[in-house]
Amino acid sequence: MKLDRLIAKHRQMGRTAALRAIAGRKVQVNGLVVADGYAEVDRFSDVTLDDEPVQVAERGLYLLMHKPVGWLSATKDAQHPTVLDLIDDPDKHTLHLAGRLDRNTSGLLILTNDGNWSKRLMAADFKVPKVYRVETDVPVPPEAVEAFARGFYFHTEDITTLPVKLEILGEHLARVTLHEGRYHQVKRMFHRVGCRVTALHRGSVGMLCLPEDLKPGEWREMTPEERQAALSSSESA
Ligand code: URA
Repeated sequence: MKLDRLIAKHRQMGRTAALRAIAGRKVQVNGLVVADGYAEVDRFSDVTLDDEPVQVAERGLYLLMHKPVGWLSATKDAQHPTVLDLIDDPDKHTLHLAGRLDRNTSGLLILTNDGNWSKRLMAADFKVPKVYRVETDVPVPPEAVEAFARGFYFHTEDITTLPVKLEILGEHLARVTLHEGRYHQVKRMFHRVGCRVTALHRGSVGMLCLPEDLKPGEWREMTPEERQAALSSSESA
């Protein structure tokens, strides 16, 4: 919300009066004077007018988790344990998922209560690379590299997948880098080249890598740098 609107709303004054107060340097956001009435403020900012609180900041939560196999990427489910069950933060009920992994996929998962930030992340989802380690039941055929780069047509959604980088690391082991997140995309692509995925692990989103010291089931708050890294691709960093 624009700062003048927020002041006007909480102090029952007109926007013109709010703009005047802001221009008169009477308003602070997170302890700093802001003189631009059209500055954007969210619910995670402290706002004061004449040193009196107008809005008290809510706690923003930005978590990264090492999702273990077997846990659902959901906030509640009647049958299966969800990743939220792994979190013991008092504000965990405010969290939502910024992207999902299948129940039998492990790796980097992001949770937040900041809808604006996750919206940016999901919009960036079609640009930032996501890297997966893939194990397969049979050897990955070498011609799969070109097929992944060309893209596959999925007729259920009537889409052709964007070019995917496939690196064959061993007979049953590969690394894929994709820039989108279609339903079961990795498994469906491998199925097209005659392989069943037996293990799938997401190692990074954008420039944000799953920290090596985070064991399956563990989570922690992101640093501001990590928050930025999740939105960045190597090309733009
Ligand atoms: N692709 C899949 O098939 N599963 C995932 O969990 C993520 C990407």
